[in-house]
Amino acid sequence: MEESITITDNRSGESFTIPIVDGGVDSGSWTKMLPGLWFKDEGFAATAVTNSEITYIDGGAGQLEYRGYSIEDLASNSNFTEVAYLLVHGELPNTGQFKTWSETLNDHAALDADHNESLLNAFNSQSHPMGMLTAGLAALSTRYPDAKEVEDSQIRQRHIINLIAKVSTLAASAAAYRSGRTPLPPRNDLTYTENFLSMTFGDDKSEYVANPVFTKALDQLFILHADHEQNCSTTAVRVVGSSHADPYSAIAAGSAALSGPRHGGANEAVLKMLDDIGSFDNVDKFIDSVKAGDGRLMGFGHRVYKNYDPRAQIIKDTAHEIFEITGKNPKLDIALKLEEAALEDDYFVSRKLYPNVDFYSGLIYQAMGFPVEMFTVLFAVARTAGWISHWDEMLGRNTRIARPRQLYVGSASREFTALENR
Ligand code: CMC
Repeated sequence: MEESITITDNRSGESFTIPIVDGGVDSGSWTKMLPGLWFKDEGFAATAVTNSEITYIDGGAGQLEYRGYSIEDLASNSNFTEVAYLLVHGELPNTGQFKTWSETLNDHAALDADHNESLLNAFNSQSHPMGMLTAGLAALSTRYPDAKEVEDSQIRQRHIINLIAKVSTLAASAAAYRSGRTPLPPRNDLTYTENFLSMTFGDDKSEYVANPVFTKALDQLFILHADHEQNCSTTAVRVVGSSHADPYSAIAAGSAALSGPRHGGANEAVLKMLDDIGSFDNVDKFIDSVKAGDGRLMGFGHRVYKNYDPRAQIIKDTAHEIFEITGKNPKLDIALKLEEAALEDDYFVSRKLYPNVDFYSGLIYQAMGFPVEMFTVLFAVARTAGWISHWDEMLGRNTRIARPRQLYVGSASREFTALENR
């Protein structure tokens, strides 16, 4: 069977045959035959912005893979440090590569203390840490003038490592600062996730030793959040990166995009929603209000998944492991009842709305002692590995600048009228 489509332009009666390549239609072939006829695709729901070798999602089947490895396999058997390597390099590291990668990340984790202190002092204990993180990432661009040389793959590699290493230190220092502690420097003897926990919760008076179950759970959550192909924040990184802005500026754009409640900010919004619902008995009333159009069920729905988000299933299991140690988060019962009610309700069923990654993650973060405002920051730390992998893939292919078109529906041409005559 020929892999192509034939379209007839009813204005002229002409027919065009356009090849289907890799499951899509190349816009170049389209515009050659139908110049000036643009796709109207707000939200890019039917637009593939690139070919990518990084992450595969089958939304109907609820399947997610990084570089061909299933998310279930990676979550059970891998760790975040090697998943970050996998995303960036395309292959899992061997023992030597893993050792070098881990040591190099540790070597790059420290921030310039004066720079970071001045930056932190611009904020206060009420400042949202996503704003602090976004500002911190953007400010890093001023420290590394050579990062602007984005066409040099070796220079790109240096900044990829620097960003993955430093985002965790920036995030942890924001958390420490907000709670009135002096941010601790990173330690060379700890893993990526141990270091993050130590810097987030430790202080100079006593060493913070994380419960290994917490460390494993957070590391697993980092794996689950590490990439998700062309989502809103990755697209923001790509769009900014396509102008050849430096990677710190591009990643800061990703962080800003992630902060919104329809994207990474949903984990924080879920906790707020559970607080507002308040009790098990109010769940049905809340579901009715969502169906009546009064807000959304946060942590539910996804542009790509039309089935259970595989990450949500893994997180739900992890939540039970954490609650065995911390005692059950009382909001879990409300969440479970919400899920049960939604999965039986035609409004949600007919729209294929299932729990997504953000539905249960906040309950775990809260049980581990993270303030609610830090939830999206945790997402950003992990997602930096994915963002920067897409950025590098794009630059390696010398992609064109992102510049969509529009369908103008405004006023027709008219003459200016002086102020006194209006
Ligand atoms: N609660 C109630 N109704 C919903 C929800 C929801 N969470 N999500 C979608 N709908 C309805 C929506 O009102 C629309 O109904 P109708 O056809 O009657 O107008 C229909 O489902 C399709 O919604 P949409 O807005 O066209 O879907 P989208 O693909 O543009 O949006 C989404 C995807 C994730 C932004 C959306 O489902 C949503 O806002 N969910 C809640 C926020 C959330 O949990 N976000 C995290 C997403 S996963 C992690 C991440 O990406 O960061």
